[in-house]
Amino acid sequence: MTPSLKTYLAAQEKKSLLRLLTCGSVDDGKSTLIGRLLYDSKLLFEDHLSALKRDSKTHGTTGGDIDFALLVDGLEAEREQGITIDVAYRFFATDKRKFIVADTPGHEQYTRNMATGASNSELAILLVDARKGILTQTRRHAYIASLLGIRHVVLAVNKIDLMGYSQEIFERIAAEFSQFAAHLGFLSRAAIPISARFGDNVIAKSSNTPWYGGPPLLTFLETVDVESGLADKPFRLPVQWVNRPNLDFRGFSGTIVGGQVKPGDHIAVAKSGRTSTVQRIVTMDGDLAQTSAGEAVTLTLADEIDISRGDVLCAADARAEVSDQFAAHVLWTSEEALLPGRQYLLKLSTSTVPAQITELKHKIDVNTLEKLAAKTLTLNEIGYGNISLAEPLAFDPYSESRDMGGFILIDRFTNATVGAGMIDFGLRRATNVHWQALDVNKSARSALKHQKPVVLWFTGLSGSGKSTIANIVERTLYAQSRHTYLLDGDNVRHGLNRDLGFTDADRVENIRRVAETAKLFVDAGLIVLVSFISPFRSERRMARELMGEGEFVEVFVDTPIEVCMQRDPKGLYEKAKAGAIRNFTGIDSPYERPENPEILVKTVGSDADSEAERILKYLKERGYVT
Ligand code: ADX
Repeated sequence: MTPSLKTYLAAQEKKSLLRLLTCGSVDDGKSTLIGRLLYDSKLLFEDHLSALKRDSKTHGTTGGDIDFALLVDGLEAEREQGITIDVAYRFFATDKRKFIVADTPGHEQYTRNMATGASNSELAILLVDARKGILTQTRRHAYIASLLGIRHVVLAVNKIDLMGYSQEIFERIAAEFSQFAAHLGFLSRAAIPISARFGDNVIAKSSNTPWYGGPPLLTFLETVDVESGLADKPFRLPVQWVNRPNLDFRGFSGTIVGGQVKPGDHIAVAKSGRTSTVQRIVTMDGDLAQTSAGEAVTLTLADEIDISRGDVLCAADARAEVSDQFAAHVLWTSEEALLPGRQYLLKLSTSTVPAQITELKHKIDVNTLEKLAAKTLTLNEIGYGNISLAEPLAFDPYSESRDMGGFILIDRFTNATVGAGMIDFGLRRATNVHWQALDVNKSARSALKHQKPVVLWFTGLSGSGKSTIANIVERTLYAQSRHTYLLDGDNVRHGLNRDLGFTDADRVENIRRVAETAKLFVDAGLIVLVSFISPFRSERRMARELMGEGEFVEVFVDTPIEVCMQRDPKGLYEKAKAGAIRNFTGIDSPYERPENPEILVKTVGSDADSEAERILKYLKERGYVT
């Protein structure tokens, strides 16, 4: 390879990378535009390359090919990062820059696909048809792009040829967009009249639009300054793993997501507040004197402090926030609706913790940007609310850092991603409320009663016999001088939960409250009998996890629905079948059977007394009562 070719290829590797997203539909000419960018830029690139090759007069070199492949590497890394559902990434390069285009094909109405592409992009091209102008869809795309942290937009007014290259039409569309987008926090906005079909103002300036003074699209993309400034932000290293090959070495490995670091810098562990000094920056190719955002490194520290996976190392003088509650935007990506109060797993950088949406304040009509009242979010909806975590996490607002402020929500049973979120700010709800140590505690209270507190959680269909059996169990325990309390669905719904109905969201809240109440009664040293349909696995699991080891006994009263319907003690099945009651369990609302209940009760072929007897035997055998 001649020096000139070598220098050229080396320069290609060092070129900056712009990640962009194209929004618009096939009708707007999106495919044509992407095709043209890809094809024309490739020609330019190859022209230049073959000219160099000709100059070099060395034949049979494969150098060019190899380096083309290298250029595509960024794309592979992207894929490994995970969620690329329905997003096609395309790659092209010019002499000045490399580009990765995220294209979300098909169903444009699906915000999920667009959001996936947007969360990795620095710039969005919003494509509109000059004949139609700004559509609701354009506004929606602009909003989602801004919500997901895109700070640069280009409005490509396509098919301007069909409007006779009219300056007036272009300017009207550009002005309308400008007005709408002014509130979306973009750092740069441009509007370009183009014809993807004929190539006007795509690669080169068109003589058909002499009135247009700006650059053609490609030139704009090559020169727009999207420097993320990540290296100028405060230092952040979420610890991926603790590297401890032998007793003499203890390093903290991960990818720096913000700022810079060098030996001697003061750092703090976000959650514990412990501080130390960076000793070495270790890499495969030896120690570094300095490194910055984007690099995967291992740091060693001057002091032995407690740090594990999920901890975040921060600049000591600019620490991340730490809280177990925050306000955030959530984009829901699951067919199953979001239920406030339900536990999901929240994954933020290298930590995963149980979390629930405690309050959904509103959802956003992405077409009008109106805030609408909402009790739930369905597929592709965006809402805003408060999220509570099972333990505190270190984070930054999404507007400061996509890595430290962006999270995903995961279903605890299916492990599917159900939502994505952007942290707005931390909430300090319970930070000044501490646990009060009391002299009389759970063990003192239960010792006085000569029993081990426990929750007997009866679940089953309406009319299955839960309350009947629970009642016999309590009566017998009472006769034996045991201290009990029975929480029954119908009764609790007259008081504490009288504001709740039977929607999925209300049932989740119903069970959350009764589980918290049961926990207090367990703390009081009681044997608590809970008799609620509690149809959802998630909430029964939540209740179980609230209690201590051995304090939760699930009793599944497994009576077939046909039998419940036949018994119909309250005449409710009759009404439900007639459509007079909606969301009735087993009719038009689901019941998720327990998979591993501690006690399985059959009411067909056995009577309530003997089933109650079995439960009492269980309590005796396990030492809850003596
Ligand atoms: S749960 O699903 O939220 O756990 P809960 O046990 O509190 O339900 O209340 C169930 C009782 O409410 C039933 O036994 C029945 O008497 C009454 N009920 C009224 N409407 C419904 C309904 N749509 N679905 C189920 N139960 C209903």
